[in-house]
Amino acid sequence: MVSDRIGTLYGIGVGPGDPELVTVKAANILSRISCVFTASSGANDHSIALKIARSHLRHADATHLPFPMTRDDAVVAQAVLENARRIVSVLKKGEDAAFLTLGDPLTYSTFGRLVPALRGLLPEAKIATIPGITSYHAAAASLDLPLVQEEESLTVLSGATGAERLRDAVMVSDTVVVLKVYRHAARIFATLEQLGLLDHAILVTRCGLEGERIVTDARSLKDGPIPYLSLLIVRASPQAF
Ligand SMILES: C[S@@+](CC[C@H](N)C(=O)[O-])C[C@H]1O[C@@H](n2cnc3c(N)ncnc32)[C@H](O)[C@@H]1O
Repeated sequence: MVSDRIGTLYGIGVGPGDPELVTVKAANILSRISCVFTASSGANDHSIALKIARSHLRHADATHLPFPMTRDDAVVAQAVLENARRIVSVLKKGEDAAFLTLGDPLTYSTFGRLVPALRGLLPEAKIATIPGITSYHAAAASLDLPLVQEEESLTVLSGATGAERLRDAVMVSDTVVVLKVYRHAARIFATLEQLGLLDHAILVTRCGLEGERIVTDARSLKDGPIPYLSLLIVRASPQAF
Protein backbone atom coordinates (compact mmCIF):
# COMPACT_ATOMS: atom_id res chain seq x y z
CA MET A 1 0.00 0.00 0.00
CA VAL A 2 1.34 3.45 -0.92
CA SER A 3 1.08 6.03 1.86
CA ASP A 4 1.21 9.85 1.90
CA ARG A 5 3.98 9.64 4.39
CA ILE A 6 7.39 8.61 3.09
CA GLY A 7 9.51 6.64 5.55
CA THR A 8 13.04 7.48 6.63
CA LEU A 9 16.00 5.30 5.76
CA TYR A 10 18.55 5.14 8.57
CA GLY A 11 22.04 4.16 7.46
CA ILE A 12 23.33 2.71 10.70
CA GLY A 13 26.95 2.00 11.50
CA VAL A 14 26.97 -0.80 14.08
CA GLY A 15 30.69 -0.57 14.81
CA PRO A 16 33.30 -3.25 14.16
CA GLY A 17 32.13 -6.11 16.37
CA ASP A 18 31.50 -5.50 20.03
CA PRO A 19 27.74 -4.79 20.47
CA GLU A 20 28.69 -2.36 23.25
CA LEU A 21 30.35 -0.21 20.59
CA VAL A 22 26.98 0.41 18.93
CA THR A 23 26.20 4.07 19.69
CA VAL A 24 23.26 4.97 21.93
CA LYS A 25 21.64 6.73 18.96
CA ALA A 26 21.94 3.62 16.78
CA ALA A 27 20.68 1.37 19.60
CA ASN A 28 17.61 3.61 20.11
CA ILE A 29 16.70 3.43 16.43
CA LEU A 30 17.34 -0.32 16.25
CA SER A 31 15.09 -0.92 19.25
CA ARG A 32 12.08 0.73 17.58
CA ILE A 33 12.59 -0.11 13.90
CA SER A 34 10.62 -2.95 12.30
CA CYS A 35 12.40 -3.22 8.94
CA VAL A 36 16.12 -3.90 8.74
CA PHE A 37 18.19 -4.40 5.60
CA THR A 38 21.67 -5.84 5.51
CA ALA A 39 24.11 -6.45 2.69
CA SER A 40 25.03 -10.00 1.80
CA SER A 41 27.55 -11.11 -0.77
CA GLY A 42 24.97 -13.05 -2.76
CA ALA A 43 26.76 -16.33 -2.19
CA ASN A 44 25.39 -16.52 1.35
CA ASP A 45 23.15 -14.61 3.72
CA HIS A 46 25.78 -14.14 6.35
CA SER A 47 25.71 -10.64 7.83
CA ILE A 48 28.16 -9.74 10.56
CA ALA A 49 26.46 -6.36 10.95
CA LEU A 50 23.16 -8.09 11.75
CA LYS A 51 24.84 -10.30 14.36
CA ILE A 52 26.30 -7.21 16.03
CA ALA A 53 22.94 -5.41 15.95
CA ARG A 54 20.89 -8.42 17.05
CA SER A 55 20.86 -7.68 20.79
CA HIS A 56 19.53 -4.17 20.11
CA LEU A 57 16.62 -5.27 17.88
CA ARG A 58 13.19 -5.78 19.46
CA HIS A 59 10.74 -6.61 16.70
CA ALA A 60 12.54 -6.16 13.39
CA ASP A 61 12.35 -8.32 10.31
CA ALA A 62 15.73 -8.56 8.60
CA THR A 63 16.08 -8.73 4.82
CA HIS A 64 19.40 -9.58 3.21
CA LEU A 65 20.11 -7.61 0.05
CA PRO A 66 22.49 -9.35 -2.34
CA PHE A 67 25.52 -7.27 -3.34
CA PRO A 68 27.80 -9.48 -5.44
CA MET A 69 31.50 -9.23 -4.55
CA THR A 70 32.78 -8.32 -7.98
CA ARG A 71 34.79 -5.51 -9.52
CA ASP A 72 32.42 -5.45 -12.51
CA ASP A 73 30.94 -1.94 -12.21
CA ALA A 74 27.87 -2.75 -14.33
CA VAL A 75 26.96 -5.75 -12.16
CA VAL A 76 27.44 -3.72 -8.98
CA ALA A 77 25.41 -0.77 -10.34
CA GLN A 78 22.56 -3.12 -11.27
CA ALA A 79 22.57 -4.72 -7.80
CA VAL A 80 22.60 -1.28 -6.14
CA LEU A 81 19.63 -0.17 -8.23
CA GLU A 82 17.61 -3.33 -7.56
CA ASN A 83 18.32 -3.14 -3.83
CA ALA A 84 17.50 0.58 -3.75
CA ARG A 85 14.12 -0.27 -5.36
CA ARG A 86 13.40 -2.77 -2.59
CA ILE A 87 14.15 -0.17 0.06
CA VAL A 88 12.05 2.45 -1.77
CA SER A 89 9.06 0.11 -1.81
CA VAL A 90 9.17 0.04 2.01
CA LEU A 91 9.66 3.81 2.38
CA LYS A 92 6.72 4.44 0.03
CA LYS A 93 4.47 2.51 2.42
CA GLY A 94 5.34 5.12 5.05
CA GLU A 95 7.56 2.70 6.98
CA ASP A 96 11.00 3.58 8.30
CA ALA A 97 13.84 1.22 7.52
CA ALA A 98 17.44 0.72 8.62
CA PHE A 99 20.37 -0.35 6.49
CA LEU A 100 23.09 -1.84 8.69
CA THR A 101 26.78 -1.46 8.02
CA LEU A 102 29.81 -2.85 9.72
CA GLY A 103 31.84 -0.01 11.26
CA ASP A 104 30.84 3.34 9.84
CA PRO A 105 28.29 3.64 7.00
CA LEU A 106 30.30 6.20 5.04
CA THR A 107 33.63 4.37 5.19
CA TYR A 108 34.04 1.76 2.45
CA SER A 109 30.41 0.78 2.69
CA THR A 110 27.66 -0.23 0.29
CA PHE A 111 25.54 2.45 1.94
CA GLY A 112 27.64 5.08 0.15
CA ARG A 113 26.46 3.61 -3.16
CA LEU A 114 22.85 3.19 -2.09
CA VAL A 115 22.36 6.84 -1.13
CA PRO A 116 22.64 8.35 -4.64
CA ALA A 117 20.50 5.51 -6.08
CA LEU A 118 17.78 6.17 -3.47
CA ARG A 119 17.92 9.91 -4.08
CA GLY A 120 17.47 9.22 -7.80
CA LEU A 121 14.47 6.94 -7.25
CA LEU A 122 12.75 8.83 -4.45
CA PRO A 123 14.16 12.36 -3.98
CA GLU A 124 11.67 13.15 -1.20
CA ALA A 125 12.88 10.25 0.99
CA LYS A 126 14.65 11.30 4.15
CA ILE A 127 17.99 9.62 4.68
CA ALA A 128 19.63 9.79 8.09
CA THR A 129 23.17 8.52 8.48
CA ILE A 130 24.09 7.34 11.96
CA PRO A 131 27.88 7.18 12.20
CA GLY A 132 29.59 4.14 13.63
CA ILE A 133 32.95 3.43 15.20
CA THR A 134 35.24 2.35 12.40
CA SER A 135 37.23 -0.86 12.45
CA TYR A 136 40.51 1.01 12.59
CA HIS A 137 39.49 3.26 15.47
CA ALA A 138 38.52 0.14 17.42
CA ALA A 139 41.79 -1.55 16.40
CA ALA A 140 43.83 1.43 17.58
CA ALA A 141 41.89 1.30 20.86
CA SER A 142 42.67 -2.43 21.24
CA LEU A 143 46.34 -1.50 20.92
CA ASP A 144 46.12 1.68 23.04
CA LEU A 145 47.86 3.22 20.06
CA PRO A 146 47.49 6.88 19.07
CA LEU A 147 46.77 7.02 15.33
CA VAL A 148 47.98 10.61 15.00
CA GLN A 149 49.32 13.24 17.35
CA GLU A 150 50.01 16.95 17.06
CA GLU A 151 50.80 17.81 13.41
CA GLU A 152 50.79 14.22 12.13
CA SER A 153 48.56 12.96 9.34
CA LEU A 154 46.66 9.75 8.68
CA THR A 155 45.81 8.05 5.40
CA VAL A 156 43.22 5.30 5.05
CA LEU A 157 43.69 3.02 2.05
CA SER A 158 41.86 0.13 0.48
CA GLY A 159 43.96 -2.97 -0.09
CA ALA A 160 41.32 -4.49 -2.39
CA THR A 161 43.57 -4.17 -5.42
CA GLY A 162 46.87 -4.44 -3.58
CA ALA A 163 47.11 -1.02 -1.91
CA GLU A 164 48.54 0.60 -5.04
CA ARG A 165 48.69 3.96 -3.27
CA LEU A 166 50.73 2.66 -0.35
CA ARG A 167 54.06 4.00 -1.67
CA ASP A 168 52.65 7.50 -2.10
CA ALA A 169 50.78 7.37 1.19
CA VAL A 170 53.82 6.60 3.33
CA MET A 171 55.59 9.65 1.82
CA VAL A 172 52.95 12.06 3.10
CA SER A 173 51.45 10.35 6.16
CA ASP A 174 52.72 9.45 9.60
CA THR A 175 50.28 6.58 9.94
CA VAL A 176 48.66 4.55 7.16
CA VAL A 177 45.68 2.26 7.72
CA VAL A 178 45.00 -0.43 5.13
CA LEU A 179 41.56 -2.04 5.11
CA LYS A 180 40.50 -4.99 2.90
CA VAL A 181 43.97 -6.53 3.19
CA TYR A 182 42.89 -10.15 2.78
CA ARG A 183 42.93 -10.75 -0.97
CA HIS A 184 46.28 -9.18 -1.83
CA ALA A 185 48.02 -9.51 1.51
CA ALA A 186 51.17 -11.03 -0.03
CA ARG A 187 51.58 -8.04 -2.38
CA ILE A 188 50.94 -5.57 0.41
CA PHE A 189 53.50 -7.25 2.68
CA ALA A 190 56.03 -7.32 -0.19
CA THR A 191 55.57 -3.57 -0.72
CA LEU A 192 55.96 -2.91 2.99
CA GLU A 193 59.17 -4.95 3.00
CA GLN A 194 60.55 -2.98 0.03
CA LEU A 195 59.72 0.24 1.86
CA GLY A 196 61.47 -1.03 5.00
CA LEU A 197 58.17 -0.81 6.89
CA LEU A 198 57.33 -4.44 7.59
CA ASP A 199 58.46 -3.99 11.20
CA HIS A 200 56.27 -0.89 11.45
CA ALA A 201 53.05 -2.78 10.65
CA ILE A 202 50.50 -4.32 13.00
CA LEU A 203 47.70 -6.59 11.75
CA VAL A 204 44.42 -6.67 13.65
CA THR A 205 41.94 -9.42 12.79
CA ARG A 206 38.31 -9.70 13.98
CA CYS A 207 38.61 -6.69 16.25
CA GLY A 208 36.00 -6.90 19.01
CA LEU A 209 34.75 -10.28 17.79
CA GLU A 210 35.40 -13.82 18.92
CA GLY A 211 38.85 -14.81 17.68
CA GLU A 212 40.30 -11.29 17.76
CA ARG A 213 43.98 -11.48 16.91
CA ILE A 214 46.74 -8.88 17.01
CA VAL A 215 49.98 -9.64 15.18
CA THR A 216 52.88 -7.29 15.73
CA ASP A 217 55.36 -9.48 13.86
CA ALA A 218 54.08 -8.96 10.32
CA ARG A 219 56.95 -11.09 8.94
CA SER A 220 55.26 -14.18 10.39
CA LEU A 221 52.21 -13.49 8.20
CA LYS A 222 53.90 -13.05 4.85
CA ASP A 223 52.88 -16.41 3.41
CA GLY A 224 49.65 -17.25 5.21
CA PRO A 225 46.04 -16.48 4.27
CA ILE A 226 44.64 -13.36 5.92
CA PRO A 227 40.98 -13.36 7.02
CA TYR A 228 38.51 -10.87 5.50
CA LEU A 229 38.08 -8.98 8.77
CA SER A 230 41.68 -7.83 8.96
CA LEU A 231 43.37 -4.46 8.75
CA LEU A 232 46.87 -3.10 8.95
CA ILE A 233 48.07 -0.09 10.88
CA VAL A 234 51.43 1.05 9.54
CA ARG A 235 53.54 3.60 11.29
CA ALA A 236 55.16 5.34 8.32
CA SER A 237 57.14 8.01 10.14
CA PRO A 238 60.66 7.05 11.33
CA GLN A 239 59.34 6.77 14.86
CA ALA A 240 57.90 3.22 14.92
CA PHE A 241 55.30 1.95 17.40
C1 LIG B 1 33.95 -3.14 3.38
S1 LIG B 1 35.12 -2.62 4.56
C2 LIG B 1 34.08 -1.97 5.81
C3 LIG B 1 34.75 -0.91 6.65
C4 LIG B 1 33.83 -0.39 7.75
N1 LIG B 1 32.71 0.34 7.18
C5 LIG B 1 34.53 0.46 8.79
O1 LIG B 1 34.06 1.57 9.09
O2 LIG B 1 35.53 0.01 9.34
C6 LIG B 1 35.59 -4.18 5.21
C7 LIG B 1 36.97 -4.12 5.82
O3 LIG B 1 36.92 -3.42 7.06
C8 LIG B 1 37.87 -3.98 7.96
N2 LIG B 1 37.15 -4.47 9.13
C9 LIG B 1 35.84 -4.34 9.40
N3 LIG B 1 35.53 -4.84 10.60
C10 LIG B 1 36.70 -5.32 11.12
C11 LIG B 1 37.04 -5.95 12.35
N4 LIG B 1 36.12 -6.22 13.29
N5 LIG B 1 38.33 -6.28 12.54
C12 LIG B 1 39.27 -6.01 11.62
N6 LIG B 1 39.01 -5.43 10.43
C13 LIG B 1 37.73 -5.08 10.19
C14 LIG B 1 38.59 -5.10 7.20
O4 LIG B 1 39.75 -4.53 6.62
C15 LIG B 1 37.57 -5.47 6.14
O5 LIG B 1 38.18 -6.11 5.03
